[in-house]
Amino acid sequence: MSTDKLIIFDTTLRDGEQSPGVTLSTDEKVEIARQLSRLGVDVIEAGFPVASPGDFNAVKLIAQEVGPLMEGREGEGRVGAPAVICGLARCTRNDIQTAFDAVKYAPRHRIHLFLATSDIHLEYKLKITRAECTQQIEEMVGFAKSLCADVEFSPEDGGRSDREFLTKALAVAIRAGATTLNIPDTVGYNTPQEYGDLIRYLREKTEGADSVVWSTHCHNDLGLATANSLAGVSNGARQVEVAVNGIGERAGNTSLEEVVMNVHTHPHAYPVHHTINTRLLFSTSRMVEDLSGMAVQPNKAIVGRNAFLHESGIHQDGVLKNKQTYEIIRPEDVGVTTNNIALGKHSGRHAFRIKLDDLGYASLSDAQFQSAFTKFKALADSKKSGVTDGDIHALIADVRSTPARASASEPPAENADAQGASEPPSSPRYELKHMQVFTGVGITPTATISLLDASQNTVKTDAALAQNGPIEAIYSVIQRIVGIDIDLLNFNISATSEGQDTLGKVSVRIARSATAGADADAEPKFTGLATNVDIITASANAYLAAVNRLISHDAANTRAAHKDRNVDI
Ligand code: KIV
Ligand code: ZN
Repeated sequence: MSTDKLIIFDTTLRDGEQSPGVTLSTDEKVEIARQLSRLGVDVIEAGFPVASPGDFNAVKLIAQEVGPLMEGREGEGRVGAPAVICGLARCTRNDIQTAFDAVKYAPRHRIHLFLATSDIHLEYKLKITRAECTQQIEEMVGFAKSLCADVEFSPEDGGRSDREFLTKALAVAIRAGATTLNIPDTVGYNTPQEYGDLIRYLREKTEGADSVVWSTHCHNDLGLATANSLAGVSNGARQVEVAVNGIGERAGNTSLEEVVMNVHTHPHAYPVHHTINTRLLFSTSRMVEDLSGMAVQPNKAIVGRNAFLHESGIHQDGVLKNKQTYEIIRPEDVGVTTNNIALGKHSGRHAFRIKLDDLGYASLSDAQFQSAFTKFKALADSKKSGVTDGDIHALIADVRSTPARASASEPPAENADAQGASEPPSSPRYELKHMQVFTGVGITPTATISLLDASQNTVKTDAALAQNGPIEAIYSVIQRIVGIDIDLLNFNISATSEGQDTLGKVSVRIARSATAGADADAEPKFTGLATNVDIITASANAYLAAVNRLISHDAANTRAAHKDRNVDI
């Protein structure tokens, strides 16, 4: 291909995870990283290793497990190399060393350093002069270079920094060994014209500019992140920093799918090509939505549920006559199957497997496939109108969010993570065995529930009534049985398809209730997700999934504490 390659640098797991309310477990981060690798992302920013031992472990695990992967990356139009695994660091030795210690296991790894350069950040946040700023850049980029050949430097708040000073600071970074220079519009302030001009100016005026890759990093505070990133590309940037579904601080980052599909749709407008497998965009978006708990708005470009729906009669008529009348992207090119041929109860494993491949789930493990097939069969039996693609996306999310039950004698996982909301992969402690719920108009909702406690192989039963409906009653009983006070931070319910026999998908976010005087924000947060034709059952199972994670996290903490004291347990 004659155009330059556009490097897709994904920061879903770092800047994306900084979205308010998003806390991914280590397992979830590794799972998302695997999907990003399959998708064809060039660089995966896996986290900020110094932030916590949990972050460090997640980045290290991604470097070890995802760093070498080639699945989906070979063949025509693909990357042809494993993803570069990147870790973020401030301009301090400890940050840089910690980032390197986490990413070094990946065959291709990068350290990403940042230091603010705008006067407002220098004066009020860092309290250093411009001269001190350039000196730190020189020393710390040099230190990073002594550890790692691939070094990226970002002048934080570059979009509001003095341009002339920026060229000096960036020239210092180049001389010290930076190989990529990333220009963040940290607060999403720039206009496309201004940001494009900035990239051009820096490329023209910075000494040594030709020896590095220039990169964009745009936030979406004014809804301009995609437009700004593309303006950067038009002006010579050859790397874009993006996040799936555009998640990130405040109004978010540039959305991966939007930039990729713009470049894809306008090969003549942008002088670049990409090597993303666009057919995996929709399933990747759903995975990030489910695991992060951040719902995608229905009218979101490319991956919103309405992105390919035609409601008005005139549009429907046009699309039936010729799709191009109202469609500029073929839905199947981004993994959306509009023909929606429903599978039924007579569909076998083979048809199910083909459907999963079509929807972007070719890489399920055998155990996950088996579990998905069992759930599919049960659903197909009860759902007369057939199992739709929406149902299958939900089934897969359900399968992925539920670890397989291990035998009671199985030892705890080795890599138990004692920090943050990360927990080792372990089998769920509690399972819903029986539930009876009474609700209605003019009566007090009550719930009676029996849970199997797998740690003791016993069934525990309790009941509760609630003023505010059946969900409150169910969640109260579960709290009583497990003996933990829990705050429900978020509850979301949606239908996976149309019609009365659609599945209900419920996602919840919980945290242990803080004790009096303690900081509630400091409590780790846990998500749970479940689907069922019965929304009350889905609600109970989603809550139980989150509770099992909380318990598993506590158990890992206890094991780590004993290990610290050298106590064998
Ligand atoms: O927005 C920003 O400035 C950042 C940097 C750390 C690159 O995320
Ligand atoms: Zn950012």
